[in-house]
Amino acid sequence: MDKEKKILYSGMQATNTLTLGNYLGALKNWVKMHEEYECFFGVMDLHSLTVRQEPAEFRKNARSLYALYVAAGLDPEQNCVYYQSHVPTHAQLAWILNCFTYMGELSRMTQFKDKSQKHADNVNAGLFTYPVLMAADILLYQADVVPVGADQKQHLEICRDIAERFNAIYGDVFTIPEPYMGNTGARIMSLQDPDKKMSKSDENPNAAVMLLDDRDTIIRKFKRAVTDSDTAVRYDEEAKPGVSNLMTIYSCVTGKTMADIESEFAGKGYGDFKMAVGEAVADEMAPIQSRYKELMDDKTYIDGRIKENDEKAYYFSNKTLRKVHKKVGLTELIK
Ligand code: TYM
Repeated sequence: MDKEKKILYSGMQATNTLTLGNYLGALKNWVKMHEEYECFFGVMDLHSLTVRQEPAEFRKNARSLYALYVAAGLDPEQNCVYYQSHVPTHAQLAWILNCFTYMGELSRMTQFKDKSQKHADNVNAGLFTYPVLMAADILLYQADVVPVGADQKQHLEICRDIAERFNAIYGDVFTIPEPYMGNTGARIMSLQDPDKKMSKSDENPNAAVMLLDDRDTIIRKFKRAVTDSDTAVRYDEEAKPGVSNLMTIYSCVTGKTMADIESEFAGKGYGDFKMAVGEAVADEMAPIQSRYKELMDDKTYIDGRIKENDEKAYYFSNKTLRKVHKKVGLTELIK
């Protein structure tokens, strides 16, 4: 542990492959920040269980997510990249925090409302208390900063509320975490319906670009992206949501400003613009995909890092859990 550095915590659910939204809204920022902070990145497999998973597929997805984190640029020798389900302190603290969280505040969570509509046949208690497990993830590591996309902002707020409530009773046990969102890319929209967030679970396969899509598929999805009947490449979220979303993606990938992009495509049609966005995204994905393939073949390397980092995560998080046990009055383990 580098005591000088602030602590960063984040993670993603281990379901399907990642979308370009996950990458631009979160993972790309993690890579930018990973040297400046002491980092913990979880493969959030316990959270994924709130929706039914096919076991073999689920196991494969969790491993694939681990490899994608590393392929995208997180260094598992420098950062603690681990599996949430391998570290029992998460479920343990979540239980305690459940007792400090109100039904009313959980029932206001938009993600709960959306998911219970989508999975009406399986509105389980885990789906309801999902944000409490997320709060436990973050608070166990005393995180200062949590880089996430805009859709997780509400979960970060409830995490802060739970921590403040706990601290008000027991003293300064938890660090109050700050969300971090990039200037652009915190909300990448569907390529088929720019009023909706780009999501893994979209039924329309052209709505989301996946990190592991091949070059032709990426370019084809951008060519089919919904725009408008105008021809000008101009940033206007209200009047031109489709074009604005493509500009956001292009800006995240190339580092160009909206003004740069408008002048680059002045007088050119949407065809040229969509092609340029597709190529830029495919160029960014290419090295990640080839590194990913190498990593998926290198079982020894990945297994070694998982083992080391699971232990590190346990060691660190258990310190917080012991402190919490003591504060609430649970009796000490007899050694
Ligand atoms: P998840 O797996 O849904 O998404 C992972 C990250 O990707 C971001 N994201 C997006 N950003 C921009 N545009 C989009 N279209 C888009 N779609 C997804 C999400 O905001 C997120 O940052 N509950 C979390 C996982 C989690 C977690 C945590 C995160 C569990 N414990 C502790 C941080 C800290 C989730 O479901 O993310």
